[in-house]
This record gives sequence, C-alpha cells and structure tokens, in this order.
Amino acid sequence: MSTNLKYGNISSREAIELEEKYGAHNYHPLPVVIAKGEGVFVWDPEGNRYYDFLSAYSAVNQGHCHPKIIQALIDQAKVLTLTSRAFYNNKLGEYEKYITDYFGYDMVLPMNSGAEAVETAMKLARKWAYDVKGVTPDEAILIFAENNFHGRTISIITASSDPDCFEGFGPFTPGITRVPYDDADALKEYLEKNGKNVAAFIVEPIQGEAGVVVPKDGYLKECYNLCKEHNVLFIADEIQSGLARTGKLLACDYDNVRPDVLILGKALSGGVLPVSAVLADKDIMLLIKPGQHGSTYGGFPLACAVAVASLQVIKEEKLADRAAELGEYFRLELGKIKHPMLKLIRGKGLLNAIVIEPKNGFEAWDVCMRLKEKGLLCKPTHRHIIRLAPPLIITKEQLDECVQIIKTVFDELESEI
Ligand SMILES: Cc1ncc(COP(=O)(O)O)c(C=O)c1O
Repeated sequence: MSTNLKYGNISSREAIELEEKYGAHNYHPLPVVIAKGEGVFVWDPEGNRYYDFLSAYSAVNQGHCHPKIIQALIDQAKVLTLTSRAFYNNKLGEYEKYITDYFGYDMVLPMNSGAEAVETAMKLARKWAYDVKGVTPDEAILIFAENNFHGRTISIITASSDPDCFEGFGPFTPGITRVPYDDADALKEYLEKNGKNVAAFIVEPIQGEAGVVVPKDGYLKECYNLCKEHNVLFIADEIQSGLARTGKLLACDYDNVRPDVLILGKALSGGVLPVSAVLADKDIMLLIKPGQHGSTYGGFPLACAVAVASLQVIKEEKLADRAAELGEYFRLELGKIKHPMLKLIRGKGLLNAIVIEPKNGFEAWDVCMRLKEKGLLCKPTHRHIIRLAPPLIITKEQLDECVQIIKTVFDELESEI
C-alpha cells in the first residue's frame, strides 16, 4: 500500500502497472490515472486536479457524478436493477414514454453500448428494405461515409476506412459500402446507380473520431432529401454529437432534419452506465418481432432510471444553449492564439478540435502531454488533431482558465520548436 495517497489505495504508477500487466493492450491511454470525478474536474490518486476536456468521449456532458443522476442510480439500485426482458418491469415503459416524447418518435429500442445501437439500426434498416421496400433477400446495401466511426463490431468495422479499425479482422460483412463525407453529390451518384437496393444511409452529423469534422450547412438536409427521393432510410448516429454537445439537442437540428432512425448513447446516462437507444416510428420499429433482437441488459430498470434523470438534466440545465454560447466564445478565444503549429480551430457547440501541423517531432500527443502537466486532460485523435470537449456544465470563468492553459502550452512550445 502506497503512502501520500488522497484517493483510493494505489498510486498512479501502481494502477498503470496493473493495467499493463493484466489488461489487454487495446488502448493507448495518456499516462494519467483518474481516481475521482466531480463536475468538470477529475483527480488522480495523489490528489492532482485536472480539467476534463474529453468528457469520456462526450458521455459526461452533464459533468462527472452529477448529483441528480447519481441519486436516481442509488434510489433505483436499492429497489430493482435487472429483470431481463423475459418479464415486464415497472421502469422501462415509463422511460420509453419519456424518451419518445422527448425526441418525437413513436418508439424506442433500448440497448447498452453505442456499437450495439448502431448494429440495431443496421438490422432495422435491412429488415425494412426486405419487408417494406421489397429489396431481393440478402441484397440490401447500407451506405456509410468515409472516415466514419460507429464502433468496433465486425459489421461496423466493415464500414470503416481506418486500417487500424479493420486490418486483420476480416472476413467482413457483405452489403456495406462508403461514399465520401460532406459530399452530397457522391451520395446522389451512388443512389442513382444503385438506389433500388439501398436500405439506408448511416451518417454522423459531425464526425467525432475523425477529428470533429463539421460538414457544410445543408449537407444533412441534402442527403436526407436524396434518401427520400430514392426510398432509403436516413439514419443519424448522434451517439457523440447528440444530447446537447454541439449546441442543439441533436446536431441534425442545425439542418432541420428529422432522421428516420436516430441512434443515441454515451450521455444518455451521463457517464454512469452504458445506455444506448434507437428511436424510430412504428412503421419501421414494429418490423422487428419478438425473438429477433435484444440484449439481456437492454432497457434494464437501473438504466431506465438513470437515462430519465440524464435527459432531465440536459433540459433543466439548458445544456444545449450553454454549449452553443460557450462554444462560440471558446472558438473565438482559441482563435486569438497564434502559433506556427496551430493550423485550424473547428467545431460546433462544445465539440471542438485544434488541428496542428506536427513540427520537429512534436505531435498532438506531445501537446496533450504538456496540457496534462498544466492540469487539462484531452486526447489526440490522429497525429495532428486535439479534440476539446469539456462537460457542458463548465462555466465561462473555467473556460477562460482553460484557454489560458492552452495558450501557455503553445507559448512554451514556441521557444522549443
Ligand atoms: C459516433 C459514434 N458512434 C458509435 C460509437 C461507439 O460507441 P461505444 O463505444 O459505446 O460502442 C462512438 C464511440 O465513440 C461514436 O463516437
């Protein structure tokens, strides 16, 4: 047992050693160990405090350990946690009514991880293609965008254009193709040639993992209209971009698009449990019959209670408005930092990225290490992009402090490169 510990009973070094020795090496974390989280802050076992500018990839939009969400978790955990769907439970229906009213859909299919929800939407789309559109069995096509990220299952990585995601994991799932992102003409061309077999176009309204790539205004609407023209479902993966992160409840709202199928995850539980959901109207959702899809934990009572609280917090604390307002301010302030490595600031709401040009061996990773040393945690995506996504409850004063930290790091780099 180590001494000088503020949180928990093992040191940062010990925690890292244990993970290295006993855990699969399927991640490359920044060398920081988090032992406690509250609001916009996290602490390591030794008591050092950091601003969290990753928010668990936008799962913690409501802030770490939000009291209302944790209370809902505790209250429900004392009464009932899991029933499986072999029986009804008294929380699921209530949650289903709440979330469908909230987003304006007839029905919801609850799942756990984001990838499972994407898989669910893929299955729904194929079923719709055969049962409603009349596509010949086994010929349905799902279109994705280049540089997408939708999760890690075999079918989802089939759609990936990132070799890290798919190399070494074949054979892949048939009936999956890609078109360039932010290029409605490419989608048009594909649909004009192959539209009769296409079940769905599945897209991230803003590509998060690709490095916060924001498409042109009107792109989503154009794609939606093309889908309607060719009798194809428009499916939005709002797992990262949704739930207030980009300054509206959904990023699709910027283009006034109502997806035929909406996929949510991450902040649906405020970072408390893996909770995901697929929303659609009856004509699509009721195509899946009993026994054709599900998950032991999907829609479990604990998740239902937590999800309702998480959605309530988003509304009560006006997190979308906060993200819109603070995001604009943040980009404006970041834009004032001048540095030869700093190429571009982009984003919407509080989903932002700094694009840098690596110089003299300094890459995004090194910038993140410097930021960590100054008390701000974020993670590079690729060698040249740093994603900045604090919890949406951050205050303007805190944001100012963070801009100052980022500025200082770039100032100090100036003298070294
Ligand atoms: C847009 C998008 N879809 C799906 C996923 C996968 O979610 P999960 O990691 O919960 O499976 C992610 C995760 O980063 C994501 O950003």
